Amino acid sequence: MSLQSLVIEKFKERYQTDPSLVVRAPGRVNLIGDHTDYNDGFVMPLAIDRAAWIALRPRSDREVHLHSLDYPEALTFSLDDMQKGSGWAEYVKGVAWVLKKQGHALSGWEGVVTGNVPMGAGLSSSAALELATARAFSAVSGIDWDAATMAQVGQQAENEWVGMECGIMDQMISAAGQSGHALLIDCRSLETTAVPIPQGTVVVVLDTATRRELVTSAYNERRAQCESAAQFFGVTSLRDVTSEQFQAHAAELAPLIRQRAQHVLTENARTLAAVEAMKQGDAHQLGKLMYESHKSLRDDFEVSGDGLNAMVECARKVPSCYGARMTGGGFAGCAVALVDQDDVENFRKIVSASYQEATQLTPNLYVCEATNGAEVL
Ligand code: GLA
Repeated sequence: MSLQSLVIEKFKERYQTDPSLVVRAPGRVNLIGDHTDYNDGFVMPLAIDRAAWIALRPRSDREVHLHSLDYPEALTFSLDDMQKGSGWAEYVKGVAWVLKKQGHALSGWEGVVTGNVPMGAGLSSSAALELATARAFSAVSGIDWDAATMAQVGQQAENEWVGMECGIMDQMISAAGQSGHALLIDCRSLETTAVPIPQGTVVVVLDTATRRELVTSAYNERRAQCESAAQFFGVTSLRDVTSEQFQAHAAELAPLIRQRAQHVLTENARTLAAVEAMKQGDAHQLGKLMYESHKSLRDDFEVSGDGLNAMVECARKVPSCYGARMTGGGFAGCAVALVDQDDVENFRKIVSASYQEATQLTPNLYVCEATNGAEVL
């Protein structure tokens, strides 16, 4: 049964009536451009066919009641009295809190939520829930839907309510994804450009079966290191440092800060080069850039993990793999590969077996289709 049918059925069981609406917002996998978004740089994610789904109906009071099919505890709160807690509910409350703070007159609603974006796997389950929530509030409270504005609401919820200093990538792609395409996002202007996946190739998510825990502090620390590098160059973000400027002054930077900045500068350049490769349909060049990106994230930015490194090495050994890299925040979770579509079954078999042999972990590899961003069904 599809998740759409499932949330509708569970809503009917609970409320003895059809939901007024169903919303969906996807997770994402990032093809290239990691840890560049909070440096005002470039990223190229795609929205994947795994998402958060909510079936709901408006309430006449100012309460939100949400029943998860995946967690035992239900979420109940009043829009007039929101208290911080922990777990998945914080993404829902955080979005309500930001919208309210922005002066929107919010209405209450109730419903059922589920999702199939794995948590802690680097596929942005939190952004999916934030954007599904934003879609629900905007529909129920009559707020105009603008993808970039709503992405910023989600990001702000995460930054100010949850305390994760994330950039805008995950929320932007969950809000604005385009079916069949990756999206080049300029994280300064929030301009997006749809870029086709090279013909004859597929994007494969390589789930290492490792999960990140307690990495918020490591993430926030990387962000602070990038800010201190920008400060050294007297600019607001590393986006404004040219590679000439960097080369001229790199030796004056503390070694760790230099490494972090080096990653950001080269990753931005790789992401723009990847756009050109994709426009030419050049899977080999795109793949090469992906491998280089992985190396830079592993060695200079130091956000990879043993499982991710093992997975990329297993993928690299298969001739039909053009490129592979860790994706998203890093440390654990998923890698991504670009693979010849005619050999994808063989690729999955070989990489699953070799990864399992190398790590004793059972991975999950699947082809993902690029989907649209958040929508009301
Ligand atoms: C996480 C954050 C994003 C981005 C990536 C790394 O997914 O939420 O904003 O910084 O890490 O590219």
